[in-house]
Amino acid sequence: MAKKVAWFDVSEFDKKYFEDKDLDMSITFFEEPLNEKTAELAEGFDAVSVFINSDLNREVLETLDIDIVACRSTGFDHVDLEAADEMDVTVCNVPEYSSNTVAEHTFALLLSVSRKLYSAINKVKDGSFDHEGLRGFDLKGKTFGVVGTGSIGKHAIRIAKGFQMDVIAYDPFPDHEAAEEIGFDYVDFDEIVETSDVISLHCPLNEHTEHMFSDEEFKKMDGTVLINTSRGGLVETESLIKAIDRGDVRAAGLDVLEDECGLSEDIDYLGEMEEKCDLQTILHDHILIKRDDVVVTPHNGFNSEEALERLISTTIENLEDLANPVNN
Ligand code: NAI
Repeated sequence: MAKKVAWFDVSEFDKKYFEDKDLDMSITFFEEPLNEKTAELAEGFDAVSVFINSDLNREVLETLDIDIVACRSTGFDHVDLEAADEMDVTVCNVPEYSSNTVAEHTFALLLSVSRKLYSAINKVKDGSFDHEGLRGFDLKGKTFGVVGTGSIGKHAIRIAKGFQMDVIAYDPFPDHEAAEEIGFDYVDFDEIVETSDVISLHCPLNEHTEHMFSDEEFKKMDGTVLINTSRGGLVETESLIKAIDRGDVRAAGLDVLEDECGLSEDIDYLGEMEEKCDLQTILHDHILIKRDDVVVTPHNGFNSEEALERLISTTIENLEDLANPVNN
């Protein structure tokens, strides 16, 4: 069990959570993410808790003298696991805290696109109450194509069924029991690409899935809506812009963008941005953001009160019992 924890990237929500909690460990908050610039703050602590903005590469881990890294996230690609293993540092994650939350955000994006909510709201704020340019489309009866039927994908499918959409899905590891129980069909990837009215991405980013949607796939579409709450790198950004221009993609709702770290306010200067991301992709991200037929949110899918409470309480369990280790 951790005794002294340095809690990086703290939010007001985190602080409030701890106000009435009586824990057997002492927790010190730091506003900053943990990285090479801030590593010295962790001196004297036996554990750190970090959010996804932190960067625990080998050099950073080497400067720390800790036993536990408690990630306040499902993903742990910001921690060098190999280095942590060598140093006998246990890394824990929070395997599931926001599945329904991200799935709900998927539909927030889809409804924003289908009912042109952003334009409609802005029009009213600008004092206009007419319908010009605001005609949307129904979800009922449309085909919802899901790529990745893990926790979030399955929640999204259940919501889609509530809208009376027809659901098809692709996953290299299909869950036939869930398909039977919820009522959807597994098809091959090409069928998803060619026949879906809406494609929603819920699979991890890895060497097999990077740019799984690029020119070749977009050219097989015909007015499809693309929703991505998963990872920006699944989609080749310039190809998406061209596909929307051609009409192959009708509109997009994106919670994640390729190289989105380059859009963060934490980046101080162009050189740092160039080191971490591809400047051409950042430019394309900005082009997408400005379009009326694209709705972008800032990787905010997980961000609900309930999900954050689950995130913090599981992180405490991880610090107390080393639950949910991802190494060692
Ligand atoms: P999960 O691990 O439960 O499900 C992922 C599914 O993707 C699995 O069923 C797996 O078999 C499938 N898959 C793997 N390779 C595939 C491929 N090539 N094609 C199609 N499917 C493939 O993960 P979960 O919890 O559902 O999360 C999905 C993704 O959502 C995460 O990888 C993460 O990138 C993203 N996410 C986004 C958040 C946000 O705030 N926007 C928050 C949390 C997760």
